[in-house]
Amino acid sequence: MQIDVFTLVPHAFAWLTEQRPVATVLGRELDLQLFGYRDTTPLANGQVDDAPYGGGAGMVLRVDVAAAALDAVYGGVPDHRVIALTPQGRQLDQSVVAELAGEERVTLLSARFEGFDERVVTHLCSDAISVGPYVLSNGDLPAMIVLDAVARRLPGALAEGSGELESFSAELGGGLEYPHYTRPADFNGWPVPDVLLSGDHARVDAWRREQVR
Ligand SMILES: C[S@@+](CC[C@H](N)C(=O)[O-])C[C@H]1O[C@@H](n2cnc3c(N)ncnc32)[C@H](O)[C@@H]1O
Repeated sequence: MQIDVFTLVPHAFAWLTEQRPVATVLGRELDLQLFGYRDTTPLANGQVDDAPYGGGAGMVLRVDVAAAALDAVYGGVPDHRVIALTPQGRQLDQSVVAELAGEERVTLLSARFEGFDERVVTHLCSDAISVGPYVLSNGDLPAMIVLDAVARRLPGALAEGSGELESFSAELGGGLEYPHYTRPADFNGWPVPDVLLSGDHARVDAWRREQVR
């Protein structure tokens, strides 16, 4: 799968590319390309945003800047999914993640300040995704959330089996995962449930399924 991210700060993604599971699949199942709007802006002095028509606070990412960025990489609007990251988008959940992980190529557009000129969303993008009903300062964390969540779904990203029995998985009926415990078996009088120390795999399995919410 290829994921292209358009951002004002490509270097912000360095940390993520060193972390598993993204690091594990990079260069294998995942090809990640980062593009900076400033590198292709048609405006002077690296300008990428402008004051909003109608007045008001904040700056808006210009449509000509986003179009030039897409043009430079794809020679126009590509035919794969181009997704604006915006609070107004469809909310990300595990089914959206699975859908994205099934794509061959996806482009993510990040904005900042007041966000995108609406024509970026309506004319340059195929769809829009929100990572939740709250406002972040820019689209880079949302892009990283999408990247991490999608990378986990790619072959070889996780240790065998560890992605199958987790929260929101079909295996758990879409529910939340059961609790985990590790040593010590008793800390401060807070014991681990006896069943987990029993060595009886059938009982452990039954207990875990009861705990799924
Ligand atoms: C400060 S936000 C803009 C908020 C916008 N003025 C509003 O009130 O909806 C700047 C940028 O951060 C990104 N962003 C912020 N919150 C987001 C969220 N919940 N999901 C996806 N992207 C988000 C988007 O790219 C957005 O354009």
